[in-house]
Amino acid sequence: MIPSLPQQTPQERIAWLRSELERHNRLYYIQADPEISDSEYDALFRELEGLEHSHPELDSPNSPTKRVGGAPQEEFASIQHQTPMLSIDDIFEHSGSEEPDQELIDYYERTCQLAGESRLDVTVEPKIDGVAITLMYQNGQLAYAATRGDGHVGDDITANARTIRSIPLFLQSHFLPEVLEVRGEIFMPKEDFARLNAERDMNGEPAFANPRNAAAGTLKLLDSRQVAKRPLAFIAHGIGSYHGPRLNNADDFQRLLQECGLPCNTPVLKATSLDEVRQAVRQIDQLRHTLPFGTDGAVVKLYDFTLREQLGATARAPRWAAAYKFPPEQKATLLKAISIQVGRTGVLTPVAELSPIRLSGTTVSRATLHNQDEISRKDIRIGDTVIVEKAGEIIPAIIRIVPEKRPTDAQPYSIVKAVQGMCPACGAPISQQEGMVAWKCTNFTCPAQAVSRITHFCSRAALDIESIGTSAAEALVEARLAHSPLDLFDLSIDQLAGLNLGTVDEPRRFGEKNARKAWEALHTAAPNLPLDRWVTAFGIPQVGEVIAHSLAATHASLVQLSDSPYLRDLIRLDNLLNQLQLANPNTRANKKLIREAPDSEVNIQQNFVSLLNTYTSTARPWLERGYIRELKNKVGKIPAYGSDIGVSAAREIINFFASQAGRRVLQKLDQLDITPPSPTYRAYANEQNQGLLEGKSFVITGTLSQPRSYFEKLIAEHGGKVSSAISQASSYLLAGKGGGSKRAKAVQWGISIISEEDFMKMIHS
Ligand code: IVH
Repeated sequence: MIPSLPQQTPQERIAWLRSELERHNRLYYIQADPEISDSEYDALFRELEGLEHSHPELDSPNSPTKRVGGAPQEEFASIQHQTPMLSIDDIFEHSGSEEPDQELIDYYERTCQLAGESRLDVTVEPKIDGVAITLMYQNGQLAYAATRGDGHVGDDITANARTIRSIPLFLQSHFLPEVLEVRGEIFMPKEDFARLNAERDMNGEPAFANPRNAAAGTLKLLDSRQVAKRPLAFIAHGIGSYHGPRLNNADDFQRLLQECGLPCNTPVLKATSLDEVRQAVRQIDQLRHTLPFGTDGAVVKLYDFTLREQLGATARAPRWAAAYKFPPEQKATLLKAISIQVGRTGVLTPVAELSPIRLSGTTVSRATLHNQDEISRKDIRIGDTVIVEKAGEIIPAIIRIVPEKRPTDAQPYSIVKAVQGMCPACGAPISQQEGMVAWKCTNFTCPAQAVSRITHFCSRAALDIESIGTSAAEALVEARLAHSPLDLFDLSIDQLAGLNLGTVDEPRRFGEKNARKAWEALHTAAPNLPLDRWVTAFGIPQVGEVIAHSLAATHASLVQLSDSPYLRDLIRLDNLLNQLQLANPNTRANKKLIREAPDSEVNIQQNFVSLLNTYTSTARPWLERGYIRELKNKVGKIPAYGSDIGVSAAREIINFFASQAGRRVLQKLDQLDITPPSPTYRAYANEQNQGLLEGKSFVITGTLSQPRSYFEKLIAEHGGKVSSAISQASSYLLAGKGGGSKRAKAVQWGISIISEEDFMKMIHS
């Protein structure tokens, strides 16, 4: 422990803790060379939290305690860039030609000519495949972070950037430039990307196509607490506005970054002739697969800053830099077979089994074929020679077939035919949902789904039944003790303990201790977990932790969610929007119609206005509650609305609760008397409601659908008071089933007795 010095004031201690925490942060996340253990770091962190709590006047948005994120935003503010964020001109490699890097040779020679020199010093560094951002440091403090946008105006993503550990919240340098605007890339490290996608797959959320999309998608989240949970990193590569000691060249710039604790790109190779530039580019090509981020090129930049200024920029890009693009590595291999995987949600996914090949640094022997459409469109047949490429240099994809190499007897492939219309895991019929390409197994208790559903149900993000992982779930399904997650609640400790996780020859018992732990987690902890954890646990397609969180914030209970007017209206709004777009009198088709039959104009106008009325009045209550927001991109008179829950997720949720499986879930939870509380409910409600119950006092009695604490919280949130004893001064008795003596007193004193429904109506009025 670092001792607290007696002469330190709280202000000094806070400043010291912040700088110390950021220093350790840098050692851990940038230098990968930590000095202290996690628990020592936590102790410093908690001390700072405590001090900040008792000294709110010393609060700072750039305190390391803010890295966990804050309240969600409605939308991103705009930021005008002080120096435009330009693009880079690309130089392409032409593989197969005599000089594949001819464009590089031309660029170098042209630039020498422009500069009036016979040769030029340049640097060559990896091009990071991420999202361009700018970080503005004023007097050493992070003032804002913004995306590139159109190069002149970008989105203010400061709250999200603060959660990224490799972005310093303040600079720790002996000399601090007054203004330092750093340009760089946000990216998701390759390894973390693979893990995140696996997790999303488990949650039934769509996987990101590549790390760049994952980074871009994350930065667009309006809830910085969600961003904090995603593994993003930052690397600086350039400079925007700058007021400080003059920087003469690329070395000065690198030193400045290092001095300030900003993560730099590596390697930055120096080249002093055309030959060296060509070599350096090759060198980057060779080592790019070993870098933690995706790269599809090398950036060549002039070394000398005075020369950079002389050459200047076009409207689009500087003349002093160019990006050499490597063609994605492709190889031909044999498609030996197509296997079918049944996912947790029952979707049948065709997978290409390939003759193994080395590609962009790894061995590839399988590649997803996505769905039937993909197979048909590319006319992929077993026995074909196929061209494989790594999309975004990460996920192998089949680009096309090589028709010349097709064996004469190769047959077109059909998923339905291959599996004979049956789920390969359970034999149940498969079906294709209307408008969807995917084939799905129709059996909710399909073993292929059962194991992953149970594992998912018990995962940390869901109900956190620690001792039940994949092998216990497999054993349970194998022993026919569980077909679906809620069957777990019917198991006794003995049944669990006797479970064989090994084989017949080498049995391995689950054991008493694990069994007891699992039983307790199921019967004591799980029933009190909040609604979002339960919703996550059901594994509804497209509904992961983030959406579950939004659902819990907008629904008071599972029952309310299962027949949600809000979700129904989201779907309705989407349908209405589609209709409105067709009904718009300004569409080409409608204009033509009016020209040909002028009488129809009134009708068309009226129809449009009436649809528009329905649309805006459907949106109104949800806008008022703050569940949805009006977006800027209005089309003519048609407003656009944004919500944290997408329409396709809304459809999945409604479908789930309407399905037999969903109805069984509700029934079973009812039987088990489990009513997950929703403590975050109304978190988005607008502030007007806060004083709704001002001056009113409540007494609660009888059995309600939620624990009392739930209603107490709601009453307090709306400005009311709760007392335990009834008196003549009480305004309302909120009464559930039972509640004898208080009810009698309320009748005697003429105090309004209200039901749970009355109360809910009251606060939603
Ligand atoms: S220097 C004025 N260096 O690629 C542009 N950019 O496709 C000078 N990028 O806008 C930028 N890695 O966001 C530079 N090592 C690197 C880079 C890099 C990625 C981005 C950058 C640029 C975009 C153009």
